[in-house]
Order: sequence, then C-alpha cells, then structure tokens
Amino acid sequence: MVLKRRHLLGIQDLKVEEMELILYQAKAFKEITQRRIKKVPTLRGQTVVNLFYEPSTRTRTSFELAAKWLSADVVNISTSTSSVVKGESLRDMAKTIEAMQADTIILRHGQSGAPHLLSNLVSSSIVNAGDGSHEHPTQSLLDIFTLLEHRPTLNGLVVGIVGDILHSRVARSNIWGLTKMGAKVVVVGPPTLIPVEIERIPVEVAYDLDKTIERFDVLMILRIQLERQQSNFFPSINEYVKFYGLNNERLKRAKEDVLIMHPGPINRGIEIAPEVADGPHSVITDQVTNGIAVRMAVLYLLATGWGEG
Ligand code: CP
Repeated sequence: MVLKRRHLLGIQDLKVEEMELILYQAKAFKEITQRRIKKVPTLRGQTVVNLFYEPSTRTRTSFELAAKWLSADVVNISTSTSSVVKGESLRDMAKTIEAMQADTIILRHGQSGAPHLLSNLVSSSIVNAGDGSHEHPTQSLLDIFTLLEHRPTLNGLVVGIVGDILHSRVARSNIWGLTKMGAKVVVVGPPTLIPVEIERIPVEVAYDLDKTIERFDVLMILRIQLERQQSNFFPSINEYVKFYGLNNERLKRAKEDVLIMHPGPINRGIEIAPEVADGPHSVITDQVTNGIAVRMAVLYLLATGWGEG
C-alpha cells in the first residue's frame, strides 16, 4: 500500500488503512521506547518545531521525546516568550519557522482549523496537536493503540465517552477514530455539554451515566474544561460530581473488566475520583507512555512519504 500525505490534520479524513499503518509503525517504535538506549538515527538531519499556543504537558513533551529519540533536531516555541506577544500573526510565525527550514511543525492552537490554514501556507509538514474543540488526532491514535494492547480488536466494543463533549477535541477525534475501527461510541453527559450537531456524526447520545454504565467495555472520561466555559453549563461542580463523577461506588455497576481512560490532565475528584484514576481498571499511564511511540510513528511516516518508506 502506498499512501501519500504530507500533514496530519485530523482523524475524520484518515482512511482506516492509514490508521492501521500508523498503529503498526507505532508498535515497532514501542519496542524502541523500552530499550535502555532509545535513540535511533531514523530522522537525523530533520528539524521538528513544537509551536504551542495553548498549554500542554503530555502532547508537547511526547512530541519532543519522539523527535529526539528519532534523532531529529527539536525546537520548542512557547508563545508567551516569542514575538506572538508583540502581535506577530500565526501566518507570520509559520512563515518564519518555514524560512528556518523546519521539516515539520507541530501546532496546538485555540482556533479550530488553524493547522488546516497553515497546511496551505507553508511547505513544512503540519501536525495538529489540538485545534480548539475540533480535533486532537494523535490523542485518538494513542488511545486506540492503548485499547488494542488490552483487547484483540475494537470491533463490537462499546465505548462511553463521558463528560464535557462540547469543548472536547479528544471526543471528536475519538468518535471518528473508534467508529472507523469498528467500535460503537456513546457520548454521555449533561445536555448542556453535548453539542446539538452531534446528531450529524456516528454516535449515540445518553444523559444518564448510572443507567448506561453497565453497557460499556471502555469508559473514556473527559476533563471538564473550565477554562473554555464562558457560562455555567451545570449548576455546580458538586452537582456534576454527583451525576457524572466516576468513583468506586459508580464503578461497581460497570463491567468487571471495563477499561478506564482519560486523556489528561485530570481534575481529580471532579470527573474522576483518585481511587479510579489510579485503580486496577485504569490505563491512563499506558496512554501517556504510548503517546511517544505513536508520535514517533507519525513523525516517521510524514518524513518518509507516509507508507512509501
Ligand atoms: N491529552 C493532552 O492533550 O494533554 P496535554 O494538554 O497535557 O498535552
């Protein structure tokens, strides 16, 4: 199979074969991430720039490690200490980075569609590291990779994505990714945190976690994104915890082998109780670890012609 793709902008427009190619490649890189000496020369001479307009721990650090372990040169641009504070536009930032011969720009931006805009402006490869509430493709790929370490297939799996669907790019990427891989996705949350346009994408909607929890093979708990909420989407945090917070009591009603995921960062004690986040069903730290292998695969495939190498 020969696929040509210069950018990774979202899961919605990825073919299943392309997702499988990334997951297959990530499996090979996972072996490298577990070696004592992790560095391989694969991307020597390549330059990767992390351009993050929003805060990040997991995505930025794992892209940096992924690039470094592949021997690429990495530059991290924090917008708070860059010329963005003097008013430089996204376009001019990208053109400047392109002029410094960046092969790949990893972009996180608060505006949905920002990576798509850059992909039409510069010759560097663009990787979407999260754009507004639109997509976070590498998060979905690492979530699927993690699930496939625990289950032989996603076919027929029922995944409940719980919480702040409205503001979540992770939810959108995972709805596309999981359904393309054969899973059934149910989004669960208060009506105010479920977007009306959700009916146009392939999901079932539920509002009562206690009535639905026994159906799920996987519970993907989302962070309540208080920083994106300009109005009150629920009466109080206590009310949210009462109806949607995943604690051990609520978990008793779930399947015995249910897997608990969370993209992080976690609001401990709000959407998920510490004993669940750190408990036996949780694969949250596996998600973080697998993020590096998946991002190595993405950088490698973009650099080598996405399947031609
Ligand atoms: N999951 C995720 O995107 O985490 P960060 O915001 O820390 O990158």
